[in-house]
Amino acid sequence: MKLAASDIKFDVEAVRKDFPILSRQVNGQPLVYLDNAATSQTPRQVIDAIVDYYSRYNANIHRGVHSLSQEATDAYEEARLTVQKHFNASQKEEIIFTAGTTHGINLVAHGFTSLLKEGDEVIVSAMEHHSNIVPWQMLCERTGATMKVIPMNKDGVLEMDQYDALLSEKTRLVFVNHVSNALGTVNPIEEIIQKAHAVGAAVLLDGAQAAPHIKADVQALNVDFYVVSAHKMCGPTGVGVLYGKRAWLEKLPPYQGGGEMIETVSFEKTTYAGLPHKFEAGTPNIAGGIAFAAALDYMNGIGFEVIEAYEEELLRYATDQLLQIEGLKIYGQSRKKTAVISFNIGDLHPYDIGTIVDKMGIAVRTGHHCAQPIMDFYGIPGTVRASFSFYNTKEEVDVFVAAVKRAKQMLS
Ligand code: ALA
Repeated sequence: MKLAASDIKFDVEAVRKDFPILSRQVNGQPLVYLDNAATSQTPRQVIDAIVDYYSRYNANIHRGVHSLSQEATDAYEEARLTVQKHFNASQKEEIIFTAGTTHGINLVAHGFTSLLKEGDEVIVSAMEHHSNIVPWQMLCERTGATMKVIPMNKDGVLEMDQYDALLSEKTRLVFVNHVSNALGTVNPIEEIIQKAHAVGAAVLLDGAQAAPHIKADVQALNVDFYVVSAHKMCGPTGVGVLYGKRAWLEKLPPYQGGGEMIETVSFEKTTYAGLPHKFEAGTPNIAGGIAFAAALDYMNGIGFEVIEAYEEELLRYATDQLLQIEGLKIYGQSRKKTAVISFNIGDLHPYDIGTIVDKMGIAVRTGHHCAQPIMDFYGIPGTVRASFSFYNTKEEVDVFVAAVKRAKQMLS
C-alpha cells in the first residue's frame, strides 16, 4: 500500500548515522550528497559485510571441499535467496549475479542474437540510458532486426498511443527503463508489459533507477527480464542482478565461457552447467553479492513504503523551492516521478553550476547523464541533476537551493 509522508515515522537523523561518509566535509563544508542516481552511499552494515567476508571467510566458491570455501559458498547462495525474495522471483535459479545493469542487458542482448532475424522489430523508449540502447543497436547490427522508438512528450512522459502503433506481430522484444535516470519519470510498465505480451514480445526492464525507490515484484509484473545494480541501492559497485524467467534463461545461450559455467569440458565438446551457473563464468564478485544482500536487508529494514513516502515529500519540497528561482526550468514533469530533479537556469551552463555548488560541499551530476537522446529532444547540452535518497533531509534541500541561487548570481 502506498503511504503518505504524514503516515510514516521515519527518523532520518538516526538513519544518517549509519552512513559514515555523510559526516565528512567537502571543500570545508558539510557534504550534501545529491548524486544518488549515479551511485548511492553505503551504510556501515554493508561495509561490515564486506570487511567480515575478507576478514573471516574469503575463499573461492563452488570449488573447494574445505571449510572456508563452504562458508563462502553458503553465504553467496544465501545472498541469492535474499535477492530472490526481495524481487519475489519464483526460483533462485532465475537470479543471475552480474557485474551490474550494463552487464545484465548485454547478456540478454547477446543471447537474442540467434533468436532474431531480418524483418524482426524491437522497441525501445526515447528516454533510455545509453546502456539500454547501445547493446540492442549492436544486436540489430548482428541480426538485421529494426529498432523502433516510443516517443515522449515535453513533460518527459511516454506517448503510449504511439507505443500501440509500433507494436505488431513483428515485435520480438521491448526494452524500457522502469524509471528514467535523467528525468525521474516512472514509466507505465504494467501496460508496456501487458501490451508487449499480447503480440508475443518479451520485455526487459532496466530497473537500475527504480530499484532504490520502488520494490518491483517480478511475478506480479509478469516481466521477462529485470536488471539492477547494487551500487544504486546502498550496495557496492561491480555487482548487480539479472532476473530472467526460467523459460527464457533456458533458451538463451551462455554469454561468457569459462570456469564455473560448465558441466564437462573436452577439446571435442563442452556441455554447460544448469541455471544460474550457466551465466556466471569465472570467479564472481563474492563479497559484492553478499554485501548486496546486506544492502537489501538494510533497505527492507527501513521499508520501501517508508522510503517512497519520505522521498516523495523531499521531491515535492525541493521542486517547490527550486521553481521559485527565476529562469529555472525542470526537465521531467511526469506526475509519477522518483526524487530526481533535472534542471537548467536560462542559458547558464550546467557544468558551471555544478562546479560552484561543489565548492559549497554539494555533489550533483551535470551533463547528459548517459542519455544523449533526451538532451537532443530538448535541444540542450545537458542539465544539472539533483537526485535524492532516503538519507537526504529538507535542511540539505535548503542548503542546495541557497547554493543554486548563489551560483546563479555569480554566473549572471
Ligand atoms: N547511470 C548513472 C547515472 O544516471 C551513472 O548517473
